Formats: sequence, C-alpha cells, structure tokens
Amino acid sequence: MRKHHLIDLNDLTKTQWEQITELAIRIKNSPDKYADSCRGKILATLFYEPSTRTQMSFQTAMLRLGGSVIGFDNPQNSSVSKGENLVDTITIVSGYADIIAMRHPVEGAALAGAQYSRCPLINAGDGGHLHPTQTLTDLVTLASEIGDLNHLTIGLCGDLKNGRTVHSLIKALSHYKGMHFVLISTDALTLPDRFKEIIRASSNTYEECCSLEDAMSSLDVLYMTRIQKERFASEKLYNEQKNVYILTPDKLTSAKPELKILHPLPRVDEIAMEVDNDPRAIYFRQARYGVYARMALILTLLNAGVSEPVLKGISHGQHCKNPRCVTNNEPYLKSAFVMDGGLFHCEYCDAPLLL
Ligand code: CP
Repeated sequence: MRKHHLIDLNDLTKTQWEQITELAIRIKNSPDKYADSCRGKILATLFYEPSTRTQMSFQTAMLRLGGSVIGFDNPQNSSVSKGENLVDTITIVSGYADIIAMRHPVEGAALAGAQYSRCPLINAGDGGHLHPTQTLTDLVTLASEIGDLNHLTIGLCGDLKNGRTVHSLIKALSHYKGMHFVLISTDALTLPDRFKEIIRASSNTYEECCSLEDAMSSLDVLYMTRIQKERFASEKLYNEQKNVYILTPDKLTSAKPELKILHPLPRVDEIAMEVDNDPRAIYFRQARYGVYARMALILTLLNAGVSEPVLKGISHGQHCKNPRCVTNNEPYLKSAFVMDGGLFHCEYCDAPLLL
C-alpha cells in the first residue's frame, strides 16, 4: 500500500483489497460489532466537486463506526475561495482530522494531496482519472451478488473515455482470470488506449462495439455509465453524445436471467426508470454496499502503519502535457514519471510522457 493512503486501488494487492471486501461483508452481516470501532476518530470530507453517494456514504460510514465528521462540500464556502492552494488546505486539515476523503476535479490531485497529508488520504475521485472507492463498492457488490469474480463477460457502456469509475474497475478486474470486457461506446467516447493495454497485459480480452443490443445476450454484468457532461469542452459536443444509450425493458429481453445491472450513479437518462423493478437491476443495492466498503476501508487505513514515501517517479526534466493534470494546475508541484508497460507515464494522472 502506498503509505497508508488510497489513491489508486492498484496501490493495494489483490489480496489486500479482497481482505477489505471480506471485511465489508462481515460488517454488513454484523454491524453492531463495529459500532464503536472509530470512537474518538475524525473523518474530513473535502469535496471540491459535487457528490451525493460518495460524500454521504463516507460520512455515514464514519458515523456508523462511532466516529465524527468535518469538512466541506463546496470549496467556495472554505478558504479555497480566497485562493488557498491544495497543499496548504491538506496540510491544515490533516492536522485536524485522523483520515481524509477528498474529491477534486483535477487529475492526480489525490496523489498531490497525499504527499502533504499527515494522515491517511483517500481518493474519492480525481477528475476523469480514478475513483477507487467506487471500485471497492463495485467489488463488494459483485462478490456479494455473484461470488466468484473470475470468468465473467462484463459490458461497460457509455462514457468510457471520461468515466473514472470504468477506468478504476477495469484496472481491478484485470487482475482476475478469464475476463472478457465488452466496451460499448460511440467512437468519440472509447476507452483510452492505456486501459486497453492493461487488459491486454493481463491476458484477458476485450472487444469494442457501438450497439448495446448486439452485446446484451453475452453479458454476465452490464455496467452502465452516465455521459460525463462536466468533462466536455462544449455543450454542443455533449449534446452529440447524450441519449445514445438508454437501457429499457425491451432491450433486456435477450439478456441472461442472471445478468447483474450495475451503475455507479447518478443516472441521468441512460437507464429508464421502468428497469428499476427488474430483479437484475442491482444499482440501488450497489450504492448501499458503498457504505460497508467505506467502513471497511476506513478501518483498514486507520490501522495501517506509515511506511514508504508517496512519490516514486522522477521528472526527467519533462512536464506532463495533460492540461487536466494537477501538475499543470498547482504550479509548485514537480512532474514525476514512472515506467509502466514500456512507456513513461505521469505518476499523477497516468498520461503517457509523450501525448
Ligand atoms: N458514484 C458516485 O461517485 O456518485 P456521487 O458522484 O454522487 O458521489
């Protein structure tokens, strides 16, 4: 684990995240046993971007563990509005709280914050980059509802370009055997190459297609996603992509009876409300599993020792060319690149050194 933070689920070994998943299921089955586990501890939720599930499930998790919560859900109501930078905010808050969950619109912000945090920092979503606690939620959901996570055909549908939940989930599920990913998107919103490379390197397989109906009958899991309006350069570009994929009851007629339909939520209109009563639709249960996943994560990180430095990469005298990278938004940060799959990538945002 990178220090005692959670920036990327891949900072944990598969064994470690399976231990967290198993703990989440134990907490779900016997919540009273854990009701005082964090008595006297404080969680800070720093949400620079809107959230319902992630923020409130973190808060619920800490309260159900007997701890307390501080934080902001709108940086304009904090000294960020006066120009305080990320590092100063983290330095201060980590002197108040025992653990931080932070969501930020800039890619790599969580790793940047972790460098300056005196307490464990959890990435609650960093721009279009990663959302590891959603992935933990998804893994708890799949483990609870399916059991064995190997040999699944999983369809991922919608905004595969900007959807951080998709990116984190692919990275995690690529550790399992016999996985086949069906990547369902328009040409404009295909999965970035670096995530396809992760699937290839894991000896799992993928196919790309643009028709949800064509893919449906083969799927064990369908992971629907929202088109990420906030990541588009213009309203016009967003309007070209919205409403392309809408899951309706008639599209499910060819689906397997044991299909599991997941969605990280919020939904806009990509799943018709008529689907909600289909027993294969488990996205509202999925959101509830998120509380147990985050309870297990908080307990695990608070019990983990401090060890290695956060950054591993070196700058090579280069700067990341991704304008959404934290190193291009917080100018005091030095670039850092790490070798991955034969290429140097920005350690903060994962963008290849040569874009
Ligand atoms: N799934 C998820 O991240 O939802 P919120 O944006 O509401 O936190």
